[in-house]
Amino acid sequence: MNSKCGVVGFIVSAVFVFGAMGVAFAAEEEELEVSFSPEVVANYIHAVIAADRALYTTHVVDRLQEDRVVIAVEAWKQRKALPLPAQMLLMAGKTVEMSGSALRFRLASLWPIYEENGPSNIFEEAGLKVVAEDPDEVYSGIITRGDKRFFKAIYADRAVSKACVNCHNGHILSSKQDFKLGDVMGGIIISFPLPIEKAETP
Ligand code: HEC
Repeated sequence: MNSKCGVVGFIVSAVFVFGAMGVAFAAEEEELEVSFSPEVVANYIHAVIAADRALYTTHVVDRLQEDRVVIAVEAWKQRKALPLPAQMLLMAGKTVEMSGSALRFRLASLWPIYEENGPSNIFEEAGLKVVAEDPDEVYSGIITRGDKRFFKAIYADRAVSKACVNCHNGHILSSKQDFKLGDVMGGIIISFPLPIEKAETP
């Protein structure tokens, strides 16, 4: 009984192992042919950033604040508190940049608390305006700098809780103090380089 099971088990695992290897080989052969549009790549990256932001807010900041363990404040280092979700996102973007990756992401707004979080060019300004009017819209395009091309996408960032509105409206440096729940407060800007276009062969 046991040895039968053993033999069957061996055959089953062999089928799985070789089957899986077959898939792996096939994937390797196809690797160069698979391509994703930059829109899809940006959507994937945005999904991760947005999920991390939402989960840090609900499962870390909100819970620890409700249980009176620790609060999240802007001067978190000095006050031994938690960083704000916006600060976490901005720090993550800087950490990715420092790691040597060419991926960039940040949180920006047409009404920023800090000027450095404002639009840094016409493209970003136009995109932040578009997503402010229609939060379901993703504003994206290709930017050329010298011989380099970048794909940039902007996603709406909305006031999902009263805390967003209260903090920004009450912040002394906020350039807009009448945010309402549900308003678009800014956007997540993602960019990454695209391969250099090959010159057309005659
Ligand atoms: C307790 C205060 C506080 C709360 C709550 C808060 N923010 Fe902020 N937010 C800030 C501060 C401070 C910055 C600037 C961070 C920096 O640049 O270091 C910021 C930055 C931002 C930015 C970038 C533009 C800017 O204003 O500098 C956006 C967009 C933003 N927050 C949206 C939100 C949204 C949406 C929520 C709710 C989900 C939220 N914030 C909750 C304080 C807060």
